[in-house]
Amino acid sequence: MSRHVLMCEPVHFRIAYEINPWMRRVNAVLGPRALEQWRALRGAIEALGVRVELVEQAEAVPDMTFTANAGLALGRRFLPANFRYAERQAEAPLFKRWFAAQGYAIEHIHEPHYWEGEGDVLPADERVFAGYRFRTEFRALDHLDELLGAEVVRLELADPRFYHLDTCFCPLGGGRALYFPPAFSEQARALLAAAVPELRAVPEAEALRFACNALVVDDAVVLNSGCPETAAALRAWGLRPVETATDEFIKAGGSVKCLVLMLDAFERWAGASGGVATS
Ligand code: ARG
Repeated sequence: MSRHVLMCEPVHFRIAYEINPWMRRVNAVLGPRALEQWRALRGAIEALGVRVELVEQAEAVPDMTFTANAGLALGRRFLPANFRYAERQAEAPLFKRWFAAQGYAIEHIHEPHYWEGEGDVLPADERVFAGYRFRTEFRALDHLDELLGAEVVRLELADPRFYHLDTCFCPLGGGRALYFPPAFSEQARALLAAAVPELRAVPEAEALRFACNALVVDDAVVLNSGCPETAAALRAWGLRPVETATDEFIKAGGSVKCLVLMLDAFERWAGASGGVATS
């Protein structure tokens, strides 16, 4: 749920390395098509009344367009990511610089533990869920608990194709969420079932089209095109699917949600300044 986001125009987006099972250097990005898809996505998001901020992409960091991994905006504080792969580490100072220039207080990361920002951390109603294993490390989440003043629900991921939480879980508000069950460990599935009253599994074919990697804006859900069952499930819930093509980005292992960092999604937890709440 968000009305204010950060995006990065993919002017230097390409497959320059392989750090997840989706990425193949031979599967080259069609630059103009990627730009077109990104602009259409931005347009769809703005048409929903969302304010879009922009950070400029540097040439050396082809994945910087996936702003969800920049870190986490907690009110006016910014907690920068600690990227697992050297290939993305050069993005961190660029995102920090942008947030500092906007007047955010920059928090310290939890070294030496890796964590990849909102790609692995999603708020759902009054809870926060975090994925760990392929990118974010379990221990990094201790620090997040402290900063949020709340205990996040830690979900172990189980399938390397769904390496970030936002690739396999989409909270929709009102106790509802989409997920792809095989992407989670058995224990994580039990935690989800206990925490989310209405959990809907997406079919594998659509999970592989990043059906869960969606951006929720009130009753609208922006998601990749070609996910008819997911779209029907959303409509049955009274929600409004907004489909937009993102296949150039799927070549890098990302879709709608990865291309967006929510700047206002953690306001509820923004007041805490360290120290885990005991209640
Ligand atoms: N190629 C990028 C990576 O492997 C894709 C990031 C997708 N982001 C996301 N939030 N799931 O890091």
